[in-house]
Amino acid sequence: MKRTHHCAQLTKGDLGRTVSLSGWVDSIRDHGGIIFIDLRDRKGLTQVMFDPKDSPEVSERAARLKPESVVSVAGKVVPRPEGTVNASLPTGEVEVEATVLEVLNVAETPPFPLDDAGGDKVNEDLRLTYRYLDLRRPRMRRNLEVRHRATKSIRDYFDSQDFIEVETPALFKSTPEGAREYLVPSRMHPGQFYALSQSPQQFKQILMVAGVERYFQIARCFRDEDLRADRQMEFTQVDVEASFVDREDIYALFEGMLKKVWKDVLGTDISTPFPRMQFTDAMNRYGVDKPDLRFALEIRDFSETFKASAFKVFQGTVASGGVVKALNAKGLADLTQGELKSLEEIAKSLGAKGLAFIKVEGGEWKAPIVKFFSQAEKEALTRSLEIADGDMVFFAAAPWEKACAILGRIRLEAAALLQKRGKLELRPDDWKFLWVVEFPLMTYNEEEKSYVATHHPFTAPVPEDIGLIDSNPKAVRGQHYDVVLNGMELGGGSIRIHQPTLQKKIFEEVLKIPADVVESRFGYMLRAFTYGAPPHGGIAFGLDRIAALLCGTTSIRDVIAFPKTQKGQDLMAASPTPVTARQLRELHIAVVAPEAPLA
Ligand code: AMO
Ligand code: AMP
Repeated sequence: MKRTHHCAQLTKGDLGRTVSLSGWVDSIRDHGGIIFIDLRDRKGLTQVMFDPKDSPEVSERAARLKPESVVSVAGKVVPRPEGTVNASLPTGEVEVEATVLEVLNVAETPPFPLDDAGGDKVNEDLRLTYRYLDLRRPRMRRNLEVRHRATKSIRDYFDSQDFIEVETPALFKSTPEGAREYLVPSRMHPGQFYALSQSPQQFKQILMVAGVERYFQIARCFRDEDLRADRQMEFTQVDVEASFVDREDIYALFEGMLKKVWKDVLGTDISTPFPRMQFTDAMNRYGVDKPDLRFALEIRDFSETFKASAFKVFQGTVASGGVVKALNAKGLADLTQGELKSLEEIAKSLGAKGLAFIKVEGGEWKAPIVKFFSQAEKEALTRSLEIADGDMVFFAAAPWEKACAILGRIRLEAAALLQKRGKLELRPDDWKFLWVVEFPLMTYNEEEKSYVATHHPFTAPVPEDIGLIDSNPKAVRGQHYDVVLNGMELGGGSIRIHQPTLQKKIFEEVLKIPADVVESRFGYMLRAFTYGAPPHGGIAFGLDRIAALLCGTTSIRDVIAFPKTQKGQDLMAASPTPVTARQLRELHIAVVAPEAPLA
């Protein structure tokens, strides 16, 4: 039976019409022999009524329907009786008086309730095992729609800006840079492997050499990472590259994209240009390179204050080249002992030796460490942190990166605790976009005693800093930029190196990659660059993250139809799985089972 309307369509204007609808039985009620069902399709609900007076046979079958069964009905649109109008439904003023019922499929009782509130309460593993049922829930359906709208808006935007979408291979080669890769054995080349592309980075740069000039791609990327709320092993990038551009062109282009997406999807005007913050500034004030600017709680440095302190923990840290930083969690003096303990645990998990604090209550600074503080030290803290009654101040004394990381995390935890107490409001739709810029080009890895590219090795140095590459590599700034929204890194990119000599120098002399390895991994790229590479730059956004924020969730699993669990499993189809000995033989692979089963 075909449908004449969808289930969110019928209104008073349709009264008297004979219509047919198809969908799922959302709920069923028996009011003294008259059967009411809410019929649901992807657009919404319509109430359908079966009256034994009209057709006893049909209403008897209706009475036996089970929720989630698939049916088609036909009948007349009638007004709902006085007092039974449902103002919250677009179809709430009418119902369909059905005289025809076709049961297209009977459903088993679902393992969890399919309404938003009920489904949100159940364990996510259960939802993922029955993902097809989970996706029937209005919230999940809306998430898929929002993602579609965002993707379409992005494609339209780049088309209007004269970009073309070009697909690049998922089967690439192993270039162990950033994350761990997924390897794919080659049947035709025994012992050799492809690697699934972590991003189209190298191909998009080659496309610039190829003269494409303006490229974009909604690209699937694969990284064997530890999975988190904002990380999946396969995810989608909005990947872009353009020739003859500088950083300012990129900023304007992507502010334009985000403005359009927010307008098209949410009808919201976000203001541009976005503020910009230097990497070191972000680290010093917020302790992370992706600060959530919806709230203040800024970190301050007190290394100078405590360099000759009687409190040896602080004085000693500064003497050995570290820093002392503090954060005033305003209004959090009512922290419980348990909450304080768990903050300490978090700090320690990040390598802190302790989490010194001052609790300000009844005009008094309550903390074991206060007795070591001089009057001048107390005044410096009060002034800079604006300490008042009811506050809670946390300290980190450690090497710079570590101190930033510890208080950056404590800042977020403190905000969550303040929010729980109703002392801070963090709205998901308070859109605080930010460009984080001027990252160091290279970061020194203490363990490996070598430099690694902060972003990736193709990022160009800031022109004024090129002279420092040999003498002071740490001080070289990269032309790298990240877009951050409410504490989440939405995207990152850079202006690239387009001179083969400079690129070779970075690989071999700065990153110390042996020449033969450079040749086998990147030789083709260096060669391409000798044939006229235009200056170019680009960026990639996490489409899953954009979609999640647009949907008001922080878990990208909520905006991916079939995500993997934290343990990298597909609970519905049940992957990964063992394969047959024959398959392995064909691929020239022998499996060595781990000695103890992996937890
Ligand atoms: P980067 O590695 O920063 O840059 O990735 C760009 C964006 O992709 C998203 N992202 C992820 N989303 C979900 N799950 C993951 N595992 C995951 N990893 C990354 C993030 C991130 O900001 N080729 C460069 C870009 C360039 O230089 O143009 C790149 O891939 O939102
Ligand atoms: P201690 O003198 O080691 O007992 O430390 C006194 C207080 O300072 C305790 O609350 C510790 O948790 C805290 N503390 C110790 N080391 C550090 C550090 N490096 N940074 C911040 N707090 C610390």
